[in-house]
Amino acid sequence: MQQRISPATTLEGSICLPGDKSISHRYAMIASLAEGVTQIRNYATGADCRSTLGALRALGVPIEQHGSEVTVHGRGLDGLRAPEAELDAGNSGSTIRMLSGILAAQPFFTRIGGDESLSRRPMARIIRPLTEMGASISAREGSFPPLEIKGSALRPIDYTLPVPSAQVKTCVLFAGLFANGRTIVREPVRSRDHTEIALREFGAEITIDGRKIEIEGRPKLLARDVAVPSDLSSAAFFLVAALLVPGSSLTIRGVGLNPTRSALLDFLAQMGANLRIVNVESSNGELMGDVVIRHGTVRGGVIEGSMTAALIDEIPVLAVLGAASENGLIVRDASELRIKETDRIATVAENFRRMGVRVEEQPDGMIVPGRQSFRAAHLDSFGDHRIAMAFAVAALRAEGESWIENAEAASVSFPEFFQILRGITN
Ligand code: S3P
Repeated sequence: MQQRISPATTLEGSICLPGDKSISHRYAMIASLAEGVTQIRNYATGADCRSTLGALRALGVPIEQHGSEVTVHGRGLDGLRAPEAELDAGNSGSTIRMLSGILAAQPFFTRIGGDESLSRRPMARIIRPLTEMGASISAREGSFPPLEIKGSALRPIDYTLPVPSAQVKTCVLFAGLFANGRTIVREPVRSRDHTEIALREFGAEITIDGRKIEIEGRPKLLARDVAVPSDLSSAAFFLVAALLVPGSSLTIRGVGLNPTRSALLDFLAQMGANLRIVNVESSNGELMGDVVIRHGTVRGGVIEGSMTAALIDEIPVLAVLGAASENGLIVRDASELRIKETDRIATVAENFRRMGVRVEEQPDGMIVPGRQSFRAAHLDSFGDHRIAMAFAVAALRAEGESWIENAEAASVSFPEFFQILRGITN
């Protein structure tokens, strides 16, 4: 699908966004292992989180979904059953990596794969710890999906993550649920901690000491009713859009403000963005609140070190903001960007070039000079949801009409994106 984007005069309104993708995956998986019925409100509407529900259903978990309301009839820690066919994770790295931690402990064989993009994403990072715990896993060329997982009784491990990845951390913690004894995960930098919060909510014994997380195996997980905050990574597109388009003023309600995710807001504030956070509350251990933002030119900045991991999903849209900022944006230590749904350094750079925006691609980042204007162009998502949405935002600032090829990719995380954008655009 091609999407036409016209330049915007202003963006105005008060909006609610779909539920957080990361939290939704985790609630669905943990609820499946709990005893009793869990109601999840504001479950993410994107295809990725649907892939998780599909895989769990294929593992024998009764799940009902009415829009964003999901009911999971938990099967208990030992209640999953062998699927009849290969599990389909679609485009979702979170589904395949996190679910593999659970599959590795099952007394049956599972094959799990996904689409073409997922089939190119590295899985050695989960195969290594799960093998150390006692599972037997084979993968295409040793690292790529589909994975063939022969589960077994797992041993607890003390594992230091070689890459900062919340997906890998979650995979090992999920496997640790099934091992007798304490599993320890040590992180090089603190990554999003939704798994730790959710596991504790459902009754697991989990302790966190800086970057060391310990989980006691074989807990009794109990169903609970949970509500998912709106996705801050989806809000990022509207926050940047409001900053870019003169006269804009937006309120985004009920956004997840977990401190391991909210580096985006700190970074925007550091750049000089005019934003306020109000009505902060806690929901099932996760912070949420309303973000109010107004247009204003921002200074620019550098994303490097632990900041890179904390902002990893927001870098494409921050690059767009960087090009319009006073001093530009430098991104370092971001080689992980090259192995996301697309090589996001290459796909950002290619769309920038089409818009006449200068960018210097580096092996592990990019340099985007500031004070640039955007030329209307024929853009492409290259099948990547965050690239589709980041360049829809860039196109709002262009001098004429732009087109985005393969814009339907946005629905992987945010099917309502273009509709909500139209609703607030003048
Ligand atoms: C996610 C973690 C990040 C992020 C992804 C979602 C999660 O990936 O990019 O969109 O929900 O744990 P990594 O764990 O690979 O860094």
